[in-house]
Amino acid sequence: MDSVEDILGQAGAAIDAAADTRALDEARVVFLGKKGALTGLLRSLGDLDPAERPQAGALINDAKQQVQSWIDARARQLSAEQLTESLSEETVDVTLPGRRQDQGGLHPVTQVLQRIEDIFVGAGYEVVEGPEIEDDYHNFEALNLPPHHPARAMHDTFYVDDGKVLRTHTSPVQVRVMESGQPPIRVICPGRVYRRDSDITHTPMFHQVEGLVVDEGISFADLKGTVIDFVQRFFEKDLAVRFRASYFPFTEPSAEVDVECVQCRGEGCRTCSQTGWIEVMGCGMVHPNVLSMSGIDPERYSGFAFGFGADRLSMLFYRVDDLRLFFENDVRFLAQFN
Ligand code: DAH
Repeated sequence: MDSVEDILGQAGAAIDAAADTRALDEARVVFLGKKGALTGLLRSLGDLDPAERPQAGALINDAKQQVQSWIDARARQLSAEQLTESLSEETVDVTLPGRRQDQGGLHPVTQVLQRIEDIFVGAGYEVVEGPEIEDDYHNFEALNLPPHHPARAMHDTFYVDDGKVLRTHTSPVQVRVMESGQPPIRVICPGRVYRRDSDITHTPMFHQVEGLVVDEGISFADLKGTVIDFVQRFFEKDLAVRFRASYFPFTEPSAEVDVECVQCRGEGCRTCSQTGWIEVMGCGMVHPNVLSMSGIDPERYSGFAFGFGADRLSMLFYRVDDLRLFFENDVRFLAQFN
């Protein structure tokens, strides 16, 4: 009887001291396991006087139940403690800002192209596209540039197979528009163009926008008004615009358009190489040969055309000083235009 008391005392202490479920299980094995202390006592009942066995057996069984109930209680306590502990470790700070998803944006040149289209669509123009792989006829010949014309050398052309080229300008789209319909024509043709050229101000692929207006009685005055109006709307400034006589095979007369420097307003700075002016486009009255080759009667109709680089306008608009930034796809650069 004394040893039952002793064992209970030891079991109680061991169970209380068990710091985790493993220690608790070890205590269970020590007292209740097959070779445990109380199990050992039960086995030794046979050594007792038969008259004493029932009472001793009952006592040992009570002790076993007692130890089991202490173990159960301690187990509940341990799991409650563990729950509290993990809850406190895993708390969520609901005041922290959430993780955001980065939002993409349109490329600056795309934004400028859309801006250009909006201005012309507002003035009644239609937006038309043409193929980037173009035939020699549309890229050159129909624009009054026959095979050995010296002005072909102005375009460092990428040649594809059998008489095809990567278009060197958007002017061939003019030809396609005139071939497929009669005046009145009022279109702009934005798109990619390609030339074998690469430095700070040239990339092998760049963007142009072509404009073409053909109708009865179209004059150089209409061209001037259109260009000046476009430039001032685009830059949202009353910039001075000047027309310099120039040469393009597909227009006669031809002009190059300079705009008062957007950066220094004509004072002279690095952007305009101290001249106060920035060249932004080529233009002119559509050459009668170009009209007639595309099936439009030059006796009845006249027209003007213009063409400019959208990347260059983007540089001026956003004050970007290296053209190549537009094509490197560095997110740190692009994110500034979102
Ligand atoms: N196609 C010319 C170029 O790429 C630009 C140009 C000049 C287009 C005069 C025109 C124009 O329509 O009339 O350099």
